[in-house]
Amino acid sequence: MLNLEIEMPVQDLNNVARLLVPPSKGILAADESLGTIQKRFDSVSIENNKENRRSYRELLFSTPGLEEYISGVIFFDETIKQKDSNGKSFPQLLSEKGIMPGIKVDMGKIDLPNFPGEVITEGLDGLSSRLKEYSSLGAVFTKWRAEINIGDKIPSLNCISTNSEALARFAALSQEAGLVPMVEPETMMKGNHDIDRAREVTASVLQNLFLKLKEHAVDFSKIILKINMVLPGKDCPSQVTPDVIATETVELFKKFVPKEVPGIVFLSGGQTSVQATENLNAINQIKDSPWPLSFSFGRALQDEALKVWAGNPNNKELAQKALLKRSKLVSLARQGKYRKEMENE
Ligand code: G3H
Repeated sequence: MLNLEIEMPVQDLNNVARLLVPPSKGILAADESLGTIQKRFDSVSIENNKENRRSYRELLFSTPGLEEYISGVIFFDETIKQKDSNGKSFPQLLSEKGIMPGIKVDMGKIDLPNFPGEVITEGLDGLSSRLKEYSSLGAVFTKWRAEINIGDKIPSLNCISTNSEALARFAALSQEAGLVPMVEPETMMKGNHDIDRAREVTASVLQNLFLKLKEHAVDFSKIILKINMVLPGKDCPSQVTPDVIATETVELFKKFVPKEVPGIVFLSGGQTSVQATENLNAINQIKDSPWPLSFSFGRALQDEALKVWAGNPNNKELAQKALLKRSKLVSLARQGKYRKEMENE
């Protein structure tokens, strides 16, 4: 069980990072901002108000047995301060189950001036005092997401390098505050680009990112890299098999990710739950990866549960069952032991 005293004991950040990526567990991303949860709730016609957000997150976090498959949960600012129906704070509820609380600390994206179609993530101002607050609320890791879009003549080097600089400053501040930074550059799967283009862009992102992390003296052994799989754009006419995605992804990491990094986790990025599970499984069938290759899915873990719940308290148990089933399948994929027939068992 984690210690949630107001003054957190000094944690060994490499140890925390390694505990986030054990062989059969991964991370549940439940850090949707108010705008993002609006889109998720709209898809099942749920009103986006504070209480609905709280009850939905309570449903997820109180799922019996979740701790068998989930090592950590990423919260949003509002959620880390919320409580379950018994008055227990969400970080406390999870840490009693042995699940580590984390927090998204970026403040979202704005358009990158002079670079149409590109965005930059904000949130560095005042970050160091927010980190202290989050640490006192029980967080042991943090997350910052940068969004890199692929399109005609984009991404620009400026977009990649400005976002990498912000990721590096975030990572340095988190480590200084005694929190493990989850560094997330997401090359988007939106668009019709092919897998070669996705590889080229992800390579340039990784190269730039580790350069900036080094410039900012970030300790690579105390971060988690959260990233996209290398795959063709959603609208690309030539889609590829999970084996191709797996090989492209792992080979790319071998070129650009330092071995000291304790773990790499994937976002699902708009893949369906089944696709993300299949691709993670193929990735984990490659046995010579120097890093644990795990998951930090948002939609791919939650979509089915959200649909079943649809805001009706009577559906809570069924929704929890859906979350548990997907978490189990993804955990099997994390070990390379998933088979598609299991979807129907
Ligand atoms: O930052 C992205 C989220 O933490 C992961 O969400 O799996 O739905 O892409 P996703």
